[in-house]
Amino acid sequence: MYQAPRGTLDRLPEDQAYWNYVEKTAADVAALYGYSRLDTPVFEDSGLFIRSVGEGTDIVEKEMYTFNDLGGNSVTLRPEGTAPVCRAYVEHGMQNLTQPVKLYYLMSIYRYERPQAGRLREFHQFGFEAIGESSALLDAEVIDMSCRFYRELGLKDLKLLVNSIGCQDCRKEYLKALREYYKVHVDELCDDCKKRLEKNTLRVLDCKKPGCKPLADNAPKSTDHLCDDCKAHFEQLTARLDQLGLDYKIDHRLVRGLDYYTRTVYEVQPLIEGGQSTIGGGGRYDGLIEELGGKPTQAVGFATGLERVILNLKRAGINPPEDTRKKVFVIWFGDEALRKAGHIMDVLHENGISAITSYSGRSMKAQMRQANSNGANYVIIIGDTEVAENKYTFKDMENSSQETVTEEELLEKLR
Ligand code: HAM
Repeated sequence: MYQAPRGTLDRLPEDQAYWNYVEKTAADVAALYGYSRLDTPVFEDSGLFIRSVGEGTDIVEKEMYTFNDLGGNSVTLRPEGTAPVCRAYVEHGMQNLTQPVKLYYLMSIYRYERPQAGRLREFHQFGFEAIGESSALLDAEVIDMSCRFYRELGLKDLKLLVNSIGCQDCRKEYLKALREYYKVHVDELCDDCKKRLEKNTLRVLDCKKPGCKPLADNAPKSTDHLCDDCKAHFEQLTARLDQLGLDYKIDHRLVRGLDYYTRTVYEVQPLIEGGQSTIGGGGRYDGLIEELGGKPTQAVGFATGLERVILNLKRAGINPPEDTRKKVFVIWFGDEALRKAGHIMDVLHENGISAITSYSGRSMKAQMRQANSNGANYVIIIGDTEVAENKYTFKDMENSSQETVTEEELLEKLR
């Protein structure tokens, strides 16, 4: 028997209401802040991700679905959405539009990770990117939009963590201080961090292993090593977050797992830590577009994993809104009645009324059962009498009332 590949999920009919709810809320919030939707291909040139996400990152080193296509080109199933959006921004000349260009996406993402609850190999993100503006006020707006998305869904027990990791220039000084600090503690680090220390120094700060965590708590803070511009940027950001009334914490260990970030980084996490705690993350990436061949262009963005959002909705007992459309089930007996059933089905569909029937000539009891299991609000019954009188028996399933009506009257009732 075939099964869905490890780390992938079928979206079953009973889960669709959650997906509709989450995706509709995403689109509504995006519209509220002036973002337009962009869809990009599922796969891209492998180089795009190696260049942007960074060679020393877990994603590029261990998690990409990369293969040669039949033409011998190396392609990769997208392991994130920011790089494809920036590639499209440059490719379609969006730098010539009024800046910032605000784009959002709902897309599938692929990472070869060890699957567990909330950690998948194929998952989906709602993400948004504001490209072409350096103001910290835009960072604050993107953070505000992220928080509004969760709030609109009804998710409350979340915390917002913010940090600044500086620009390419002041980062160099900071990394030097960090390596100095760790030099004397290198034996206390886990094996992964020993390797990270040279290649991906910042990541040592967010290692969750027992030996590494206390060291990270006492490590030099990036915010103490910011240049004047980055410092002013971070101050403007936090002042605006205060004005917005957002409850945030500055977390000096927050560095994120992708290489393209500059200055602002932030994450949203559930208050009660689960196995996969981060529900969404983002930040500023002022060097990325240039790295991909565009003009120097500042940008900031965010993405949240929709499976994790739905997991949190379920944990919080938040149900998606119910489908309020009324459903009609048509029951019939005999060949003449079947023809009449066909006619009324056509009329109902033409009038935009949801109607279903069974074509297999079952007993009244079996058809009633089927109507019930389909969640029908109304049942139309057609037998010999209804055929002879050219009428319909109309039953309201909620109060079990029943009456005989003409086609006109029936439509009137259902409309
Ligand atoms: P990221 O932190 O790698 O950022 O992923 C964003 C979100 O995707 C995570 O917070 C999580 O909810 C979800 N996610 C990540 N990995 C998995 C997984 N294996 N299974 C299920 N959900 C997962 C980015 O992708 C950046 N592109 C965000 C960004 C946009 N930065 C700037 N703009």
